[in-house]
Amino acid sequence: MSPHEDAPSSKERFMPPDSIVSKAHVQGLASYQELYDKSINDNEAFWTEQAEQLHWQTKWSSPICKYNFNLDHGPVHISWFEGAETNISYNALDRHIENGLGDRVAFYWEGNDEGQERTVTYSELKAMVCRIANWLKSVGVKRGDDVSLYMALVPELPAAMLACARIGAVHSVVFGGFSAEALADRVLDSRPAVVITSSGTMRGPKPIPLKAIVDDALNISEGKGHSVQHVLVLEQLPLADVGASLRPGRDVVWREAVDSQPDDCPVEWVPAEAPLFKLYTSGSTGKPKGVLHTTGGYMLGALTTTKLVFDVQPTTDVYWCTADCGWITGHTYVTYGPLLLGATQVLFEGVPTWPDAGRCWAIVDKYKVSIFYTAPTAIRALHARGDAWVTRHSRSSLRLLGSVGEPINPEAWRWYHEVVGGGRCPIVDTWWQTETGAHMITPLPGATPLKPGCATLPFFGVEPAVLNERGEELQGPCEGILVMKRPWPSMMRTVAGDHARFEQTYFSAFRGYYFTGDGCRRDADGYYWITGRVDDVLNVSGHRIGTAEVESALVAHPSCVEAAVVAVEHPIKGQAIYAFVTLMTGVDHSDDLRKELIATVRKIIGPFAAPDVIHWAPGLPKTRSGKIMRRVLRKIASKEEDQLGDISTLADPGVVQQLVELRGK
Ligand code: WTA
Repeated sequence: MSPHEDAPSSKERFMPPDSIVSKAHVQGLASYQELYDKSINDNEAFWTEQAEQLHWQTKWSSPICKYNFNLDHGPVHISWFEGAETNISYNALDRHIENGLGDRVAFYWEGNDEGQERTVTYSELKAMVCRIANWLKSVGVKRGDDVSLYMALVPELPAAMLACARIGAVHSVVFGGFSAEALADRVLDSRPAVVITSSGTMRGPKPIPLKAIVDDALNISEGKGHSVQHVLVLEQLPLADVGASLRPGRDVVWREAVDSQPDDCPVEWVPAEAPLFKLYTSGSTGKPKGVLHTTGGYMLGALTTTKLVFDVQPTTDVYWCTADCGWITGHTYVTYGPLLLGATQVLFEGVPTWPDAGRCWAIVDKYKVSIFYTAPTAIRALHARGDAWVTRHSRSSLRLLGSVGEPINPEAWRWYHEVVGGGRCPIVDTWWQTETGAHMITPLPGATPLKPGCATLPFFGVEPAVLNERGEELQGPCEGILVMKRPWPSMMRTVAGDHARFEQTYFSAFRGYYFTGDGCRRDADGYYWITGRVDDVLNVSGHRIGTAEVESALVAHPSCVEAAVVAVEHPIKGQAIYAFVTLMTGVDHSDDLRKELIATVRKIIGPFAAPDVIHWAPGLPKTRSGKIMRRVLRKIASKEEDQLGDISTLADPGVVQQLVELRGK
């Protein structure tokens, strides 16, 4: 099975089932269309009405949105709800508790091992958030300060995010799969005084020594001039079991530092445009950039999409998004969206295949999960294990399924629909990005007829366009580059500390448009089919990785002079990393060296970025001006060198034959 082998048939269609339509917030395609038109034609009225669902301590002044997308008219800027003040932690917790919902379950936490479980109500979560917030204040964290989080997926992680937000601090969550060096890069960029971590966690059968990784990262950071003052450690596993120690004067354990804090902490009312968080993500060049999201607009985007795309009914649904809070999906669809809605959700620390490939469905049955949201790579991995792991569990509580992170191939879509969902659950294939903050192109479960593998139609207030390479807008059915014509509330506002990079990355290629980096096809029904990145960004198991990042990690190995990385199709991961490596003169290639190179990438970025293939390359195909021709490398990597096209611009065409001969060596 290849992710792209089964060409999508635009005739295959799944209508929303009556049972879903009758309860949905938006019922039928005509209602969607009417509301969509309103959201575009009277954007201000649409978002004003949506914003009324939330608490604003001070209301905004008109217009609701001010922006400039066109660099020819001056710097790019976007602001929503100017003049307003609010707090997202208040909206996610206090608001529900004041409405009498304090005893509702916020999280059913399920640990890595079966039998580990906790239940946290909204009141308990608020108390936990307040204790963390009070500790943060006690060590001097103030409004606008950065705090980095490097933790396992336990309730304390979303609670720590909300604690930062409660006092106006800016969180930067780093996924627990990143290496010490990658964490150090992020710490050096945002320069927090405080880091919150766990001692360690189990991922499947494997212990992950998070605190020890933090120590290494902070040593690197110290060597480069930034010292973190306070490290808070949640003792999830005994410190000694994961080789962790405490540095006196800097490190404190949760039990002593947080548990004794008062259960109440007043919220800090912040301007709608106050920074809420930074999240580092990969681009086509350079180091990962800190995508900056602000409070008011992000909050509204998270709320409206969670409510309308998952059609969450907070009194009856149990919602489960499998993402880690270290990624944007975990920010918007674990921490913020569901809590803003007052929903009950499952938080799962482990992996879908531990202790066996039926774990997800065992959890679905245990908590009566009705809405399940995951990534295509997980769906393909579970599909490969066979149907029996699924069908031995009932799954009768499921009513809606979701997909995110990469294009879902129709074959995986059909399996998800037929086998996992028993043919009765719509699938919302949600296209969006770290930068967009919330869903952008997605079906609505009670409104949108589905086509397998298709993200379908824009969410309210989102106005996409498809451009050709000259930047001209295409009409009707077409294929080209996906851009956005206007801002939406939850879009990123800048790259932290580097507004020029923000403008360069997203607004310089095509004047007046936000450039997504994705290609797409629009069919005769106006449906959008995302075809994948058009830049040098890889998508491996739904994780974004920059080719330049992997290349510079490889070059950090003393034997490597040059590296060029391309993506090849992979049946489970969607894309695999294929690296061409040129060695120093006099160094011979060997299996040991191959292992060392892979280990170098694991060390510098993290295990998930390890190349799948190292292809020895005495030379790389370059133009006369020295630019590597990745197009040629992609063809060699996928064994399609008979379709190289025009290579007359290559400085040394002989390189191609050399590379073909070295394949598999
Ligand atoms: C890809 C993840 C097709 C896309 C939320 C995008 C998708 C990048 C989909 C963003 C989807 C995400 N269909 N492609 N439903 N969802 N992508 O920032 O290439 O980690 O640009 O955000 O993932 O990845 P990011």
